[in-house]
Amino acid sequence: MAAVERAVTIEDLRRLALRRLPNFIGRYVEQAAGDGGGVARNIAAFRQHQLIPRGLVNVTPVDTTTELFGKKYSSLFGISAVGTGGIYRRHFDEILAEAARDANLPYILSGSATASIEAAGRIAPDHTWFQLYGAKSESLTDHMIGRAKDAGVKVLVLTVDYPIRPRSEVVERTGVALASGPTLRTFPRLFLDAVRHPLWTAEYLRGGGTPKLESWAPYAPPGSGRKQVARFYVDNWVSNQTWRDLDRVRKLWKGALVVKGLVHPGDVLRAAQAGADAVTISNHGGNKLDCMQGALDSLVNVRKAAGPNVRLFFDGGIRRGSDLIVAKALGADHCFIGRATIYGTAAGGLQGAKRAIDILQTDLAYTMAMIGCRTAADITREHVTAS
Ligand SMILES: Cc1cc2nc3c(=O)[nH]c(=O)nc-3n(C[C@H](O)[C@H](O)[C@H](O)COP(=O)(O)O)c2cc1C
Repeated sequence: MAAVERAVTIEDLRRLALRRLPNFIGRYVEQAAGDGGGVARNIAAFRQHQLIPRGLVNVTPVDTTTELFGKKYSSLFGISAVGTGGIYRRHFDEILAEAARDANLPYILSGSATASIEAAGRIAPDHTWFQLYGAKSESLTDHMIGRAKDAGVKVLVLTVDYPIRPRSEVVERTGVALASGPTLRTFPRLFLDAVRHPLWTAEYLRGGGTPKLESWAPYAPPGSGRKQVARFYVDNWVSNQTWRDLDRVRKLWKGALVVKGLVHPGDVLRAAQAGADAVTISNHGGNKLDCMQGALDSLVNVRKAAGPNVRLFFDGGIRRGSDLIVAKALGADHCFIGRATIYGTAAGGLQGAKRAIDILQTDLAYTMAMIGCRTAADITREHVTAS
């Protein structure tokens, strides 16, 4: 039996993933801004709440399905955007698209993915959502939006939480930016790390090194290799997005639009007024700022201010089925996971991705039954203690 099949929790998959990945890559997955307060706070926020079961309720069969934008999905969670995924596992994005399709979950292809929009759309036409960072050039942004539409994507996710290019202390320390891969200068330092992680290294070499950012490849100068595409992406992805950009994208995109990465109630309300069909309360998995409020606490604040009618998605720190229930009870209409499926995929490819989904889904269904909730709609504020 493969090691990922023996994993019982997401933490088990995390350990397997970190064992397989070289340290400089593992640190990048784990990367938290600064001293790691953001990631730790996201996870710890869930431990501030406990569940209050209701008794004598017929809970069989448990039904975890939810409906979003006119489509019925099998669970309360989807898979969030992860950039440069091919570095963790070759064909990372394709694997996640397939796993999401088979589990009937939404899958958000990152705007800096190593698979193209078209490839993900082919694998999972009914499940792929596309995450846009936008580009400095409006015509390039518009072209990407057009490609998403042509690829059959029905939901566009506009990530708005990086007003300037992110600063990564992990990258500053290792000297390796994943988009561009090792350089001659950094290679000697990384060599030992790679040798100590032979399974990852063999796959990396077999696949021809760091994969290309495929969605950006058509815009880079003709004949660009992966490094030139990465350079083009770094130089051209958007910063300084403003409300005007949201208005522009809203006018252009006729499908469902999700704005990802707002946490202030005033911003969320404004995005809803600007025509966002949902807002994802997210601090980018704690990668953005060390000293940022835990994502779950942001969700509580926002739901209180926004009332029941604004559709809120949530991500940050979800590692267990009970976390999904807590987030739902505190106001999330749907949840997304980032690291949980990164760990699974890095540890065991498609089998690992499916295992991560299965672990969360099994834990969710079990915990729902245990607290007397037969359907997702039965989960209410009453099932969770206040913090
Ligand atoms: C390695 C890594 C790469 C990420 N890349 C992106 C990205 O390209 N676009 C995006 O909107 N969010 C990105 N995120 C944020 C995730 O979509 C999500 O918000 C976050 O991972 C949720 O927190 P969790 O990892 O605790 O589940 C990334 C997160 C990680 C850990």
